[in-house]
Amino acid sequence: MTFKTELVTNPDARAIHRAGEILRQGGLVAFPTETVYGLGGNAFDPEATKKIYAAKGRPSDNPLIVHLETPQDAETIAYTTPMFWRLAARFMPGPLTVILKKRENIPDTVTGGLDSVAIRVPSHPIARALIAESGVPIAAPSANVSGKPSPTLAMHVYHDLNTRIEMILDGGPCEIGLESTIVKLDGEHITLLRPGGITLEDLTACCGKIDVDPAVLERFDGIPQAPGMKYRHYAPHMPVKLLIGTDAKFFSFLENQTEPFGVLCYTEDLPYLRGVPTAVLGEASDFAAHARHLFAALREMDAYSHIRVVYARAPKTEHLGLAVYNRLAKAAGFAFVEL
Ligand code: TXA
Ligand code: MG
Repeated sequence: MTFKTELVTNPDARAIHRAGEILRQGGLVAFPTETVYGLGGNAFDPEATKKIYAAKGRPSDNPLIVHLETPQDAETIAYTTPMFWRLAARFMPGPLTVILKKRENIPDTVTGGLDSVAIRVPSHPIARALIAESGVPIAAPSANVSGKPSPTLAMHVYHDLNTRIEMILDGGPCEIGLESTIVKLDGEHITLLRPGGITLEDLTACCGKIDVDPAVLERFDGIPQAPGMKYRHYAPHMPVKLLIGTDAKFFSFLENQTEPFGVLCYTEDLPYLRGVPTAVLGEASDFAAHARHLFAALREMDAYSHIRVVYARAPKTEHLGLAVYNRLAKAAGFAFVEL
C-alpha cells in the first residue's frame, strides 16, 4: 500500500490532534523524540504493529519499544518492580528504555513473541503531546528503513519512508541523536543491553552494579538479549573501518591510501583533510556532539557514491563515548585497524 505522506513542520495542536486520530485508526505517524525519530503505531492494535514492520522492512522477531506518557502507565502493560521505580524516579521522562515482564494485553506482534516488553517515557514535547492525544501506548522503533542509521532529522525519515506511512511530524533535529539506553531488569539485577543518552556511569550512580551485555562492546555471534543487536546496522553502502592510534599515525595512514575514501572527522582535523570527503562529528572532546551528529554523518557518507571505504577513529568508551563507540563499531561490523 502506498500513501501520500503528509510532512508537517513544527506541528501545532491541530496537527497533533490529527496525528492522534491516525494512530487510533490504525495508521502510522513518525514523530520526533529527544533521541531519534520514531515510527509510531497503536501498541494495542496488532494490525498497526504489523504495518510498522512492513514499512521498515524489519524482521518480525525484533521487538518494538512501547512509548508511554508517564511511568505509572507501565503498570497497565507490564509487571513493575522496585528497581523500575528507582530508575523511573531518576531518569523518566528521558532517554531510558526498561525491559519488564509483559502483561497479556500487549500483542505478540509488539514483543516478537517474548514474554517481556520494552517501555520508554520520552521527554520530547511533541512525542508527549502525541501520546496524550492518541490516548494509547505507542509502539515505535526508530523511523528508518531497517539497516540504515536511525533518523535524527525529519528529512531522513522522509527519505526512507515517504509513501509508506501516513504522516511525519517534523520537530527539528533530535537533541541526543542516538537511540535510548536499554536496560533489562531481573529482580534487582540490571543488565545494560544498549548504551545511550543515560550513561553507564549515570546508571551505576543511581543503582550500583550494572552488568554490560557482551554485545555492547564486541561482535556477538550468539543470540543477544536485545534481538535488534544481532542485525547489521547503521551502515552506509561502503565499509566503515575504525582506526586506533595517535593523530600522527591517523593522518599518515590516510595519506598512504590509494583507493577513494571518506572520513568521519573532528572539527580540528579539517585543515589536514583538504580534498577528502568528510563529515564532521564536532570537536574532538565533545562526546555529546559526536552522538548528535553521528547518524547524519553516516548518511552524508552514503551520498558519496565514488568512495570505497569510510575511516573514523575508534571512540573512547567513557560516558556518552560508549554509545558512540557501540554504534560506530556496529556500523563497522567491528572492523578495527590498529595503526
Ligand atoms: O530511542 C529509542 O529507543 C528509539 C525512539 C523512537 O524511542 N527507538 C528505538 O527503537 O531505537 P528500535 O526498535 O530501533 O530499537 C529497539 C531495540 C531493539 O534492539 C530491540 O531488539 C530491543 O530494543 N527490544 C525491544 N523489546 C525488547 C524486549 N522485550 N527484550 C529485549 N530487547 C528488546
Ligand atoms: Mg532502530
